[in-house]
Amino acid sequence: MNEVIKTIFERHSTRAFTDAPISKDELILLADAARHAPSARNRQSWHFTVIANPALIVELANAMADALGVDRESYRFYSATALILCGSDRADPLGIENCACAMENIFLAAHSLGIASVWINQLKGICDEPAVRAVLSKAGLPENCVVYGTAALGYAAKEFQKPERATGTVNFAM
Ligand SMILES: Cc1cc2nc3c(=O)[nH]c(=O)nc-3n(C[C@H](O)[C@H](O)[C@H](O)COP(=O)(O)O)c2cc1C
Repeated sequence: MNEVIKTIFERHSTRAFTDAPISKDELILLADAARHAPSARNRQSWHFTVIANPALIVELANAMADALGVDRESYRFYSATALILCGSDRADPLGIENCACAMENIFLAAHSLGIASVWINQLKGICDEPAVRAVLSKAGLPENCVVYGTAALGYAAKEFQKPERATGTVNFAM
């Protein structure tokens, strides 16, 4: 099996990370993988924010936990050491779809580098809450951008199995 197909078949989510950091070179590579995703009419109306500062990650997690009304200590992105926020110009009607393509590129590239990952969804609904937006602005997210997906990244603290893929049906009309 070729390496790309193997990576697609193997990738799975991880929800417990060690405190080992990801190198800056690899984070740059992951952001580049995101930027190579397809986008509607090649508008590339996205903005990727890479956060690898532990204090800033906790600050974002706290602001999100407060906005969501959940316990701060339980909301830590599974201890991920890096986040890549996939944001889009809020005016782009296909921003969600573009970001989903970019997210998958990040996950596949990460897996190929031995980096574990999981999609974190909650920012999508709360990125304009003032306290959350303040942290996002501090991290460099432009005001005109909303966040549609967050890739939580790090090294797996334990092995997670890939869930069965039993429900997606396929038919061939050849
Ligand atoms: C749009 C989307 C939103 C998701 N949001 C979350 C999330 O907020 N938290 C989480 O732990 N996993 C989240 N996931 C991960 C899915 O639960 C996971 O991909 C799915 O269970 C299949 O497992 P696998 O990634 O191990 O193959 C999300 C995945 C997608 C595609």
